[in-house]
Amino acid sequence: MAQPSHAWRGVIEHYRARVDITRAISPITLLEGNTPLIPAPRLATALAQGKTEFELFIKFEAGNPTGSFKDRGMTAAITQAVADGAQTVICASTGNTAASAAAYAARAGIKCVVLVPDGKIAAGKLAGALAYGAQVIAINGNFDDGLRMVKQASERAPIALVNSINPARVQGQKTASFELIDTLGDAPDWLCLPVGNAGNITSYWLGFVEYHRDGLATKLPRLLGAQAAGSAPIVLGHIVEHPETIATAIRIGNPARWREAVQALDDSGGHITAVSDEEILACYKTVSRTEGIFCEPSSAAGLAGIAQGVREGWAELEGKRVVCVLTGHGLKDPDTAIKGTVPPITIEPNIEALLKVID
Ligand code: F0G
Repeated sequence: MAQPSHAWRGVIEHYRARVDITRAISPITLLEGNTPLIPAPRLATALAQGKTEFELFIKFEAGNPTGSFKDRGMTAAITQAVADGAQTVICASTGNTAASAAAYAARAGIKCVVLVPDGKIAAGKLAGALAYGAQVIAINGNFDDGLRMVKQASERAPIALVNSINPARVQGQKTASFELIDTLGDAPDWLCLPVGNAGNITSYWLGFVEYHRDGLATKLPRLLGAQAAGSAPIVLGHIVEHPETIATAIRIGNPARWREAVQALDDSGGHITAVSDEEILACYKTVSRTEGIFCEPSSAAGLAGIAQGVREGWAELEGKRVVCVLTGHGLKDPDTAIKGTVPPITIEPNIEALLKVID
């Protein structure tokens, strides 16, 4: 049945002229993209700590079909892989890429193999990858080990690699910048986001530069990247052999797009900072309680970067328009969500018992 003409058709079709991948087949899509850009005034006030005033929007990438930003790049990578004749795709992942690759491979009717760090992947991501029918392999190692292994596998066997070193991933992912500019009418002053393997920051910058070059934006934003303090190779300037953080999505010690990320940060006049797990968790709680927006811990790293920049005085946010990307859904990591809260109390099923406990 033909789709009504106003229906959203996914990022490849919507940005047809700009997403540079094969046109040999119709896109493998779950109609990803078109995610909400939510004004967040109460969160802005909380992050400003009485020291400054700025306008804050949340780009809620958890609104994508598998609950994270990865679907934008994955629609492109899987479409390209299928057009190239791949029967199997592979990736290493801290969880979200795995779930996304698994879903799009299922959609395409091909096999998906994912490598995840044993015990360091949030429950909702593992559930997704398994539900979509991927072969999930847990390794006694971290993401960086997994990436090395899948690169080797794709060189030795006819398996397509769909990590963000695959250029198609960046082509799909950059559509997030287009959406921001299309919605706001121009680029924001700042774009804040968590940085792990550095594919997302690279892609956003590419998208902003492209729209600006073509006269669709009058300016370029400054980038504010945030890494978890225990996994902050770009901030430290060296590989982290044993990355650690509660923000398991960004538990990465040797980002594949390190060089591109540094270039983007430099070109934008931006800043990259390391935020502690405590700072991440504080913002993780604040965003859900002030705005009703539930993200996974890693997503809150960008917010923690803003809070830190305000506290330490290096973030020039006064009067600015700031967009913070929340990369993944809070439901991805129910264990962390529940751990930080008071457990529900149990009462007898009558009104007296109820009235007694409502505070
Ligand atoms: N936020 C979330 C929720 C992520 O899952 C990731 C990366 C990032 C931020 C960082 O993005 O890697 O492009 O710098 N997750 C990858 C994965 C590594 O395997 O799902 P990046």
